[in-house]
Amino acid sequence: MRASMSAEALADALRARAVPVLSSVASDGAIALLLPASSAACARLALASLAIPQVLQHSRDLRHAVVAVVSNSSPDTLLARVSAALTAAGLRAALAPVATTARSVAVVVPAAVRVAAVQALHAALAQAKPRVDVVVIGARGRVARALAQLLSDRGSRLPHAAGLDLRIVGAATREKLLWSDAGLAPATLAADVERSGAPSDRAGLLARILHTGARPRIVVDCTASEDIAALYPELLAAGIGVVTPNKRANARSWAFWRRLQELSRASGAPYRYSTTVGAGLPVLASARALRRRGDRLRSIEAVLSGSVSAILHAIQSGVPFSAAVADAQAKGFTEPHPAEDLSGEDVARKLLLVLREAGLPLERSAVQVDPLVGGELAHETDPAGFLAALTAVDAHWHARVITAQTKGEALVFVARYDGVRATVAVESRPAGDALTRLRAGENIAVLHTDHHDPLPLTLAGPGAGAELTAAGVLTDLIEAARDAATRARARRRRAKAARAA
Ligand SMILES: NC(=O)c1ccc[n+]([C@@H]2O[C@H](COP(=O)([O-])OP(=O)(O)OC[C@H]3O[C@@H](n4cnc5c(N)ncnc54)[C@H](OP(=O)(O)O)[C@@H]3O)[C@@H](O)[C@H]2O)c1
Repeated sequence: MRASMSAEALADALRARAVPVLSSVASDGAIALLLPASSAACARLALASLAIPQVLQHSRDLRHAVVAVVSNSSPDTLLARVSAALTAAGLRAALAPVATTARSVAVVVPAAVRVAAVQALHAALAQAKPRVDVVVIGARGRVARALAQLLSDRGSRLPHAAGLDLRIVGAATREKLLWSDAGLAPATLAADVERSGAPSDRAGLLARILHTGARPRIVVDCTASEDIAALYPELLAAGIGVVTPNKRANARSWAFWRRLQELSRASGAPYRYSTTVGAGLPVLASARALRRRGDRLRSIEAVLSGSVSAILHAIQSGVPFSAAVADAQAKGFTEPHPAEDLSGEDVARKLLLVLREAGLPLERSAVQVDPLVGGELAHETDPAGFLAALTAVDAHWHARVITAQTKGEALVFVARYDGVRATVAVESRPAGDALTRLRAGENIAVLHTDHHDPLPLTLAGPGAGAELTAAGVLTDLIEAARDAATRARARRRRAKAARAA
């Protein structure tokens, strides 16, 4: 319309008829107004009351949308935050000036980006997530790489789903440490540590974790290292959470196991290790639940090694023992050195962990193990040399398979607790029993307790593989980070209340 009268009079007339002006631009004696379509009739009446005949054009504009934000902030602050959020999201308000009231700001954006604009404003203004810093140790390993891939794939969906801003600030290999307080890109974590990490050792790593920053921090130990496991007491005592698929710490002495639990309780630092037994199966959580409700564990029969069960499956379908082991290692089913799986040590540790979680204060020496591979071969420290030498036991395993099959039985690597003795050994069992029906790579735990009797509690499913383990580690990490963030928030509230008092 021609601006033959003042913009103020026009504004007054529109306000008198409760017509909201979303945006207005004046130039060359003309005023352009952006009004909600629902107010068009009132606006025309307002203009008529002012006797402005020169309305040159009015049109329904479907190319633009209005996005309004209501807040307790001052209009100036709110406007600055809205502009910053839209700019950061690569969006800009289409028309200026924006409409502001004492408690709201409305901006006009191209209709095509209205959903993106609402999401960007929501994320920036309404959903500031508590930040939790994560340090990954063993960043080049299979589980760590699968975890980084998951974090990268879930990307922007994670904060929404988990209610957290999880950032990897540190990544360590045996020789290198890469650190960035702003956060490292999960997708390229392993390559970035290799390329840009600074030389570091265990002491340097510990110092960096302990003495950098004050945010809640979680260490994810993706190694199979005793040395790294030995750091947990110091980390937990300092309030730093630990998440790990590494069994080493919990398989040390009973006193060490208890100390870790007590340190975690005392400092409030989360300690989560659900993937140390059964990868994604809730075996430890079930054992813990039994203990907490006072349900006595009477016995367990379990297959707890996805790698050994895959190997036994293969040899019972005709594959030589040495080839079956090499295949399981290539698929990432075995420990870094397959001798650890075949020695039975890995399963002995897992059985020990389940029994401890169920409340039995046992030492490793209480678990008797009959290894799949013994003698000198078991002491070969080089994984490649070990695999090459395994052909020496192919005939022995072929004979055991034939003997079992002749009786209609199958070989299973069983971890057992009968209420008195804990043992780990290959057993020949009737085909069709629950433990022989497992598919390659599956785990099973059959638990008889005071309440689960005569029908046992049975947990079964895939129990190995880097991807599955990483998914379990991510679950532990999210839960640990939520705990840590909640505690940090409570600490801040207490400190604020103490300052105010
Ligand atoms: N893979 C599975 O299916 C599975 C299932 C359940 C549990 N787990 C457990 O998950 C953990 C990782 O398994 P993985 O299969 O990923 O093993 P991996 O591929 O061998 O990775 C382990 C990584 O740890 C690194 N490492 C060893 N000592 C270290 C130290 N002192 N400081 C920093 N880094 C160190 C190694 O670095 P280098 O390359 O420099 O030696 C290696 O990259 C193990 O504890 C395993 O028992 C694995």
